[in-house]
Amino acid sequence: MRLNLKIWRQAGPTAAGRLVDYTADNVSPDMSFLEMLDVVNEGLVKRGEDAIAFDSDCREGICGMCSLVVNGIAHGPDRGTTVCQLHMRRFKDGDTITVEPWRARAFPVVKDLVIDRSAFDRIVAAGGYVSCNVGGAPDGNAIPIAKDVVETAMDSAACIGCGACVAACKNASAMLFVAAKVSHLSLLPQGKVEQDRRVLNMVSQMDAEGFGDCTNIGSCEAVCPKSITLDTMARMNRQYLKATVKRRVE
Ligand code: SF4
Ligand code: FES
Repeated sequence: MRLNLKIWRQAGPTAAGRLVDYTADNVSPDMSFLEMLDVVNEGLVKRGEDAIAFDSDCREGICGMCSLVVNGIAHGPDRGTTVCQLHMRRFKDGDTITVEPWRARAFPVVKDLVIDRSAFDRIVAAGGYVSCNVGGAPDGNAIPIAKDVVETAMDSAACIGCGACVAACKNASAMLFVAAKVSHLSLLPQGKVEQDRRVLNMVSQMDAEGFGDCTNIGSCEAVCPKSITLDTMARMNRQYLKATVKRRVE
């Protein structure tokens, strides 16, 4: 296939960016989207031009590093799929494809398609953990947990911290991400001890990082490659309300 690409190029965080036209020739339908960009970059390097900067790591949908808006959709046109698992067979010969970085004030562009997602790290550091004493691993069956609770916690734990939910939201809200991190810990007995402090601190850090408020549009759920659902946010809101009331009473 021959494809026309319009790719966001931006030399640095404070530089002005723009869409630059490229042609990708001999693209195999079996290539992943990132492999196609690798081939474009090989051509640029051969011509002595600056390669297009983009993030990736696992290339199998589990690390959350890849973060491209393809034709206006975070992670591209396939639902429940990261952009590293998007394949070129999804496009047709002669197609024009626009590739941009996540756009949110809390995710500044580092270069081209690479954004700084350290705001997510600071939110997790504010409470996305379980404090425990070191020592031998406890027996897996020592604390029985109902299967439906385990399943719900595991569904939330599937969040890979990619940030597509923020990129798709008109408010650049990080609620889906924070709710997933809060839920996967607070649903389990080991995480309940710190659940109030966790939700208050993580939401407070989310606000401090400059993410917007949720207005229940649902575009986050639509683009989430791990199918985290809006009810995760409802669960976090209930937990946040309870924790706020308890703190006031105390
Ligand atoms: S909730 Fe979904 S879209 Fe948001 S960071 Fe987690 S995996 Fe990515
Ligand atoms: S590169 Fe790891 S999820 Fe895409």
